[in-house]
Amino acid sequence: MDSIRVALLGHGTVGSSLHQLLVEHREHVRAATQRDVEVTAVLVRDVDRARPGLDPTTTLVTDSLEELLASKPDVVCEAMGGIEPTREYLLALLDRGIPVVTANKQLVARHGTELFARAAAARTQLRFEASVCGAVPIVRMLRESLAATRIECLLGILNGTTNYMLSAMAANGTSYADALATAQDLGYAEPDPTEDVEGIDAAAKLSILAGIAFGTTVDVDDVRTTGISGVTADDVAHAHVLGARIKLVARAERLLAPGGGHTIALDVTPMLVPERHPLAAISGATNAVLVDGAPFGQLVVQGAGAGGPETASALAGDLVSVLGSEPSFLTSDPHVAHLAVAPRDARSERHYVRMRVADRPGVLAAVAGALAAHGVSIERVIQQRAEGADGTGASEASLVLTTHPCAPGDLETALATVESADRTVLPMLDAPEAAS
Ligand SMILES: NC(=O)c1ccc[n+]([C@@H]2O[C@H](COP(=O)([O-])OP(=O)(O)OC[C@H]3O[C@@H](n4cnc5c(N)ncnc54)[C@H](OP(=O)(O)O)[C@@H]3O)[C@@H](O)[C@H]2O)c1
Repeated sequence: MDSIRVALLGHGTVGSSLHQLLVEHREHVRAATQRDVEVTAVLVRDVDRARPGLDPTTTLVTDSLEELLASKPDVVCEAMGGIEPTREYLLALLDRGIPVVTANKQLVARHGTELFARAAAARTQLRFEASVCGAVPIVRMLRESLAATRIECLLGILNGTTNYMLSAMAANGTSYADALATAQDLGYAEPDPTEDVEGIDAAAKLSILAGIAFGTTVDVDDVRTTGISGVTADDVAHAHVLGARIKLVARAERLLAPGGGHTIALDVTPMLVPERHPLAAISGATNAVLVDGAPFGQLVVQGAGAGGPETASALAGDLVSVLGSEPSFLTSDPHVAHLAVAPRDARSERHYVRMRVADRPGVLAAVAGALAAHGVSIERVIQQRAEGADGTGASEASLVLTTHPCAPGDLETALATVESADRTVLPMLDAPEAAS
């Protein structure tokens, strides 16, 4: 039995875990593929650094793609991250007919179409399960298990860092800043947390999942993205009073277009999620995806969304799939149709609004009047709580209300006419019928 020669691009958190997994689970891989798998080459930046589990006398350790190619790998696992030179390296590998499995969400989200085209031209495979939701097999579920269904909506908690922070704020009443500091101490958040807290990471993952779920090319820049940095401890507490949790929800939904046909609405935004919704129970650094469609109804998958060993398990699963299959529709470009992106106001939904307003008689009536003038009606006023002086002698109140379904643009226009020191506006998710 010939060994399969595997090359790793990257030997950091994920790459080294994959290497260890392939050694420790050699028997499982052999049972699944009837082949032995050998890591024969590793590409890194720093070739001189000693790395546990990597013996440079038996495995090529190089910083040169040419040398790695010369070692004649049968398959390559990419866990080096970044866009360039990674993109250039993957194109060179695919052009030579070498199958690639990758954990790189930004690369797949931004250059998937180009990479798939080159893989197809060379009749080879590009697999990317590990690029979304770590260990959770959501790509496989969408591409294979649900391939013959019609998906209407996909909701996800796709970023573990922000879910950890929002869970901590809900559990302990801590501020955003404290939750971020703890997440950084625990290694959940990077020293520069922008990609996570501003929703950029979740938007890349959503564009990958929505592209498969709806068979359409999704430009990451078409995902309306709002992060959690504007969410306060007050908002989290008010959500609790409303029977909800605040979650950073990634959402892709098929909508009817006014002239017929369909569009796709895409957003990543903090939302109020009712406590009985399956996503409300997802706490800590866990990821989850709810898929709604016909004829299967609703499916929810959840699990570890990051971590070296967890992500490595998804890469190894793709590696096993590559070894057990020929290039097919499962590994070709999943983007077969084109759905236009829905304009922001295509969807009406309920909203939560919190604002600091001057604490004087008639303020609530003025706010209600401003909203009514733009066709927005109030569902509930939760509380109007005096918060003390604003430093100029005038007192202020925190006004919290929820609206009946309305277009976000109408609400924004209405609120622009109301004077308030600061405010939070969040869409509210409805509980799915099966869960109510
Ligand atoms: N960490 C996670 O939990 C996780 C979860 C899901 C997906 N991912 C994805 O997995 C990928 C890797 O993440 P990671 O956390 O393992 O990163 P990491 O720990 O920083 O490791 C990156 C590895 O790639 C090598 N590398 C980077 N740029 C290179 C270049 N230009 N030339 C040669 N080698 C290069 C590094 O070499 P040196 O060791 O010499 O620096 C290092 O070994 C990323 O796409 C990430 O988004 C990570």
